[in-house]
Amino acid sequence: MTSQVDTTTTKLQGYKQNLDNSRAEAHQWLQAIEGMADHITIRRIESLGIQAGWRCLEVGCGGGSIARWMSYRVGPDGHVLAVDQNTRFVADMAGPGLEVRQLDITEVPPPVGVFDFVHSRLVLQHLAQREQLVEQLAASLKPGGWLLLEEMETFSLFQNDTGPFRQVVEIMHAMGCAAGTAVNWARTLPGTFQRLGLLNVGAEGEMLYFSGGTPTAEYHRLTGELHWPYAEKMRLLTREQFDQYSASLRDPRAWFYGPIIFGVWGRRPPA
Ligand SMILES: C[S@@+](CC[C@H](N)C(=O)[O-])C[C@H]1O[C@@H](n2cnc3c(N)ncnc32)[C@H](O)[C@@H]1O
Repeated sequence: MTSQVDTTTTKLQGYKQNLDNSRAEAHQWLQAIEGMADHITIRRIESLGIQAGWRCLEVGCGGGSIARWMSYRVGPDGHVLAVDQNTRFVADMAGPGLEVRQLDITEVPPPVGVFDFVHSRLVLQHLAQREQLVEQLAASLKPGGWLLLEEMETFSLFQNDTGPFRQVVEIMHAMGCAAGTAVNWARTLPGTFQRLGLLNVGAEGEMLYFSGGTPTAEYHRLTGELHWPYAEKMRLLTREQFDQYSASLRDPRAWFYGPIIFGVWGRRPPA
């Protein structure tokens, strides 16, 4: 007998998600991520003691809010290098000492030993080369420099009651995993940082609890739009299920357990 899980797994074989910034809703989606996570990221960066004059690297800068914020924080004596494989939303972004470069981080490794602070959010977990990239980012730190990686874990989504959100999110989640997103990876980062010789390694996870109409709801709605055409084609969901999901994410009276934004940090030993 074939189970529902087996059927879904078979239908998802070879599925590829298009997270490229060239798609139509990319800007809205990146802005939703910023609204969802910037307050968490800024709190974490502040707690690591960011200072005027620091040289920083932002990997996969997306809509650019964190790179821009860092540039004002480090000031004209500092420098922020913001890289992304598609910089169309940040090409004209301005800030003191802010430099934007379009490059694929899997093809152009960062320079060694030059940054006081390196940050990346919701990028590496989507990339097959993620382990090698952590090593390269750690190596790009100056002695005493800090690495902060923020990635999403999703087990909290499965705490939602059965209903349109839970039904659709389960399928969308399976689709993201099939396409190669590592949703259980963030928890391994503290051990990786320790193996790489970083000091003062710390970690925390902030679970998003959100209502319809908020940036986190918009992030889920737009992620749904990303996966919907394939879900419809493969009959993984009905139009009615998807419409109910989208409507619930616009309802300010509906509350949901969202993903967990993990943050993991560590410091290269001072010289
Ligand atoms: C989910 S978005 C996150 C954007 C931003 N870090 C944030 O949290 O607001 C992922 C970003 O990483 C970029 N990206 C993905 N793969 C990349 C690669 N190989 N090299 C450079 N940037 C990449 C994408 O273009 C996109 O802007």
